[in-house]
Amino acid sequence: MNNTFLRSLLRKKFTRFEDVEDSGLNRCLSALDLTMLGIGAIIGTGIFVLTGIAAATQSGPAVVLSFVLAGAACAFAALSYAELSASIGGCGSAYSYSYAAFGELFAWIIGWDLLLEYGVAVAAVANGWSGYFQNALTAIGLNLPEALTRAPSMGGIVNLPAASIVLVLMGLLIVGVKQSARFNVIMVFVKLTTIAVFVAIAVFNVNPANWTPFMPFGWFAEDAAGKPVGVIAGASLVFFAYVGFDAVSTAAEEAKNPQRDLPIGIIASLVICTIVYIVVSGLLTGIVPYTELNVASPVAHALQLLGFNWASGLVATGVITGLTTVMLVLYYGLTRIIFSMSRDGLLPGVFATVNPKTRTPVRVIVITGIMMSITAGFIPLGQLAELVNIGTLFAFVMVCLGVLFLRVQHPDIARPFKAPYGSLFPILGLISCTILILALPKITWIRFFLWLVVGMVVYFTYSMSRSKLAR
Ligand code: ALA
Repeated sequence: MNNTFLRSLLRKKFTRFEDVEDSGLNRCLSALDLTMLGIGAIIGTGIFVLTGIAAATQSGPAVVLSFVLAGAACAFAALSYAELSASIGGCGSAYSYSYAAFGELFAWIIGWDLLLEYGVAVAAVANGWSGYFQNALTAIGLNLPEALTRAPSMGGIVNLPAASIVLVLMGLLIVGVKQSARFNVIMVFVKLTTIAVFVAIAVFNVNPANWTPFMPFGWFAEDAAGKPVGVIAGASLVFFAYVGFDAVSTAAEEAKNPQRDLPIGIIASLVICTIVYIVVSGLLTGIVPYTELNVASPVAHALQLLGFNWASGLVATGVITGLTTVMLVLYYGLTRIIFSMSRDGLLPGVFATVNPKTRTPVRVIVITGIMMSITAGFIPLGQLAELVNIGTLFAFVMVCLGVLFLRVQHPDIARPFKAPYGSLFPILGLISCTILILALPKITWIRFFLWLVVGMVVYFTYSMSRSKLAR
């Protein structure tokens, strides 16, 4: 069978992304859908798990300040994201913007970085999900054999719930974007209700004595083991709680009116989540001493300590739901970024096909789903939240730089949304994200550097010679 014949056969089955005028993806998401997508991606492990760890080990009750600092860094970056998503667009998020601003090599680095951010985040959250899921099973008297709930290095065979949930989401994303978005709206509603239940109970049980000492670890220091502690180090950890708002920008080619709705979706979801985080973290450290919070499910645990067992169970169920939406949206974002990169020739073209029936990129969904499922099942990903953070912060820095660069280089391109007050916010974004990167543990810098080295090898041995745009 010769090549041309093979291609025409394939073309009958799959619409190649670059052969159609529009992307072939279904333009069906409104501003509200996009905001929901953002909230779906944002509220998750960060607030439900990391708040407790950060409060107990890094920030004390001042974890609320850590959330404010991390939220401010994100807000500055979000304005830059909003500007670029409205003026450049494309479903590749920071990858597409870097392409426009700095050219291919930088774009590749960012794209490669985003693969780490999204892929590892999905697998990491799947592990957290698995923990809560097992709690729920235990509560109704069911116990999975331990060998099936842990990765080999933790003494088990496979973390089956973590691997399975990724495959379930894979099926959902194949079915279609609108269906996934609908499912997401229901889940977001459940998640917000869960938080409302917590707030309603906590507000009447605050003991102000729990807020002193407010800042037991100071602003920034290193503990005996050389690990960063203090409010700023706490901010670089709870930053994970904000990861995901940028996922809204990956939906550019499925948004009905991207130029108007993407900035709304990005900024609205970030504002709502920041308010939620400040309220929840403030209350959590107000109802129990911060030293009690270094557990896998601090919010449920705190309610239990107050004697609200029913609410604790309810919150745990809501968390399972919450983590599901986080994985769904990040997974969705991952597939769209790979899609963009392969459309440009930097990754194999097999990823750039849309199945005409479902109008979703089925192949890329399946391949990444299987890889993340294996990762989630076999590798315990506790420390990888920090790896996700450094990857995300690096992308934010590049997006802020991209805004500044494009304003000088191409002052005349249409900017339906422009970050206000000149260069103030992109510069603040640049500075604050860099500070958070510096506050992460050194081992995280090393891991991230290694990932980038692998990326460079892939670029110079594969992508560079195949790039369509360069040609
Ligand atoms: N922001 C997401 C979470 O906290 C990644 O789970």
